[in-house]
Amino acid sequence: MRLRTILLTVLCAFSCIAFAQEISIIPQPAQMTVGKGAFLLQGKVVICYPADKEIKNVVNNFADDIKAATGVKLKKSSFKKDKLFGLEVDKCGKKGVAHIVLRLDNSLGDEAYNLSVRDGLIKITAAKPAGFFYAFQTIKQLLPANVMAGVYDASVTEWRIPAVEISDEPRFAWRGFMLDEGRHFYGKNEIKKILDVMAAYKMNRFHWHLTEDQGWRIEIKKYPKLTEIGAWRDSKVCGWGDVKPDGIRYGGFYTQKEAREIVEYAKERFIEIIPEVDIPGHSQAAVASYPEFLACDPEKPHEVWLWQGVSSDVINVSNPKAVQFAKDVIDELTDIFPFEYIHLGGDECPTYKWEQNSDCQALLKEIGSKNYRDLQINFYYQLKEHIAAKPAARQRKLIFWNEVLHGNTASLGKDITIMAWVGADRAAKEAATRGMNTILSPQIPYYINRKQSNLPTEPHSQGYGTETVEAVYNYIPMKGVPAELQSKYMGVQANFWTEWVETADHVQYLMLPRLAAVAEAGWTPQALRDYKNFEQRLQGEALYYRLKGVNYGKHVFK
Ligand code: ACM
Repeated sequence: MRLRTILLTVLCAFSCIAFAQEISIIPQPAQMTVGKGAFLLQGKVVICYPADKEIKNVVNNFADDIKAATGVKLKKSSFKKDKLFGLEVDKCGKKGVAHIVLRLDNSLGDEAYNLSVRDGLIKITAAKPAGFFYAFQTIKQLLPANVMAGVYDASVTEWRIPAVEISDEPRFAWRGFMLDEGRHFYGKNEIKKILDVMAAYKMNRFHWHLTEDQGWRIEIKKYPKLTEIGAWRDSKVCGWGDVKPDGIRYGGFYTQKEAREIVEYAKERFIEIIPEVDIPGHSQAAVASYPEFLACDPEKPHEVWLWQGVSSDVINVSNPKAVQFAKDVIDELTDIFPFEYIHLGGDECPTYKWEQNSDCQALLKEIGSKNYRDLQINFYYQLKEHIAAKPAARQRKLIFWNEVLHGNTASLGKDITIMAWVGADRAAKEAATRGMNTILSPQIPYYINRKQSNLPTEPHSQGYGTETVEAVYNYIPMKGVPAELQSKYMGVQANFWTEWVETADHVQYLMLPRLAAVAEAGWTPQALRDYKNFEQRLQGEALYYRLKGVNYGKHVFK
């Protein structure tokens, strides 16, 4: 008898460990307990959901994904929104049939969900479609990796969802990733892959850096030369030091139709897109397209830049036609991108050419300042006023890089958001103290285009290999920020600059798995974050990446 008990205990201990090892959710849920047993996805499975157009869409997408990856066809059934669980199970299908039941609970946060998995019954509650979507993402992570990857895997014979009780919601509302396509252009299929991976990690903001000195990547119908001229250059590489421009004709851009397609694709994954046009600095490609009114020195030649660095060929902010240009660009962006934010850049804008230009000198005098940075602020002020005069549906909030804080921001008011990258913690605190919202995207370690290890196999990029997965993971957002400022911190964002990164494969290599580390900082309560535990949960991601067909940094995988 005693021997039997010991044997059972040992067996149970092994199976419990096995269950625990199966459960590798990234980002780690806010609360989770692991039960015994599992829900088997096989035979007839009914999914019941509250009758609501958006929830139906989320359910349909989930059912399609499950069908494609497992072959199991969920039988869909909707019910009036106010029914309770017991009734739902009876009404949605026969007793003895496995059910996935969704129920609205308006007491939960916009992205929160509760998930209960038992043998034969999965219950999900959420207040909003996003919550149901995130519950489904968690379920996909509880299944074999091919499910999240969206591919069928004939070698998997059992679709088992381990028993868990989860109450989950994100720490921050903003969990972003920025990609610079100004330096190098990858095209819509690659962007969709990135959006898929972001959604797997419950990230919800794609910041699309669409313009640079080296390329303008979005069609603007009123200014066709932006893409006829500004989207192309005579070098694939961005020259730097001994790396000289290679003379290869290179470029590309998104038509407005393609950009809208990507917005829709992102929306299905609960990701909002923030377009960035970086003006008036980092604008040489625009200046080369319309030097007659954008250049400070239109009489000189201007070309899309073949080098990397910070170009001094900035927009002439004293020219009313340049201001009108920016307003027109914003209007077209507003048509394409429905999200409430637009990013106008504002980083690394040399004032040298303004200092040499008599119109800029006169304007500085007129606005009563001696600080040339205030010309930039005055430019933004006019753009902000332009937006403010629009109807409610066309209102947009503005985001800027933190250098904007070097000017007198009084005219811009407090309802702007500062994306903090250089001296990020200090800059974010300064923004919050001025009453502005802020997003943490610290250059070190959240610029995940930098080398992620010092291994000799590491492909060329910026940095010294010190922005390892561990270093990225161990950054603590909002550390030491006084309680009264914390509401100004919208969240975190990883940024990816592409001066050295010519191919999508190279983007993926550098981006992964560090994106997962940033996602967890954005979602999981700080008290639950632990690198060793994360590294363990990460191990299964290699299979997901391989099945998904994306490259990834290998050094943390055993
Ligand atoms: C930046 O890294 N220039 C925002």
